[in-house]
Amino acid sequence: MAVNIQQLNQLKQQGRPIVTLTASDYGIAQLLDEAGVDVIMVGDSLAMVTLGYQTTLPVTLEEMIHHAKAVRRGVKRALVVCDLPFLTYQESPQQAMHSAGRILKETGAQAVKLEGGYPAITQTVAQLTLAGIPVMGHVGLTPQSVHQLGYRQQGKTPEAGEHILQEAIALAEAGVFAIVLEHIPDDLALRITQKLPIPTIGIGAGPHCDGQVLVTSDLLGLSQRLPPFAKSYVNLREIITQAVQDFGSDVRQGQFPETQKK
Ligand code: KIV
Repeated sequence: MAVNIQQLNQLKQQGRPIVTLTASDYGIAQLLDEAGVDVIMVGDSLAMVTLGYQTTLPVTLEEMIHHAKAVRRGVKRALVVCDLPFLTYQESPQQAMHSAGRILKETGAQAVKLEGGYPAITQTVAQLTLAGIPVMGHVGLTPQSVHQLGYRQQGKTPEAGEHILQEAIALAEAGVFAIVLEHIPDDLALRITQKLPIPTIGIGAGPHCDGQVLVTSDLLGLSQRLPPFAKSYVNLREIITQAVQDFGSDVRQGQFPETQKK
C-alpha cells in the first residue's frame, strides 16, 4: 500500500522509525522504493550532487520539477516529497502557493518541503495546508541560508536551541505533517521529538528522531566529500571507476566485444 502522511504519524505513535532517502532520477527512485524506503525526497541537494553546483541556491523550480517527475515515475509505494527551491516561496504565500501547486500538479509528488520557521514561513505553511498541500518543514541547519549560517551545527547554545524548538512548534501548529531536523545537538532533537505531535526526520540530529534521512549519493559513496554526520554504506566511486577502467582496457585490448559465434 502506498505511504501517506497519516501513516507517517502512525509510525511515530508506534515508535517505528521512518526511513527516508533522497533521489533525483528514475532508476535510483525505483531501487529505493523497491527496497522499502518510506519517504523519498527530491531534495534540493540535487543542485550539488546531481547538477554540480557549489550550493543549493542556483537550482530552479523548473529543474526541481524535471527531476521530481522522473523520481515519481519510479515510485509505487513511498511518499514523494519535493523541495521548494530557494526564492520560490519566501517572497509571499502567493508565490509559495504557485510554486507548490506546480510541483503537485506537474510532478505527482504528494508533498513539498520548505526551510525555516520565521513568522512569514509559518504563515505560508498555514495557507498551503489550508489549500490541501501537505508541507514538510526543515529547521536547524537550513542549507538555503548557507551564506548566513555556513554548514555549522545549529542550536548549540541554550538560546539558539530554544529558538529552534519554538520554530518547530510554530511550524507544527501551522500544519506541517513532519519536520526535518538538520545538524543540531542530539538532546535538542530529543526535546523537539518529544514535544511535537508530528514526526521528526533527522539528519545529523542523533538517534532520537522519529526517522532518519541521508542524501543517497552520500549513502552510496558517490559524493566527493561527506558531511561529518553522514555514512557511506558502499563505495560506489571505487566500484564504478574500476568497472569503467575494466571496460576501457577490454576495449583497448580488443577483448570487448567478443567475436560472434556462428
Ligand atoms: O536537500 C536535501 O536533500 C534535504 C534532505 C537531506 C533533508 O533537504
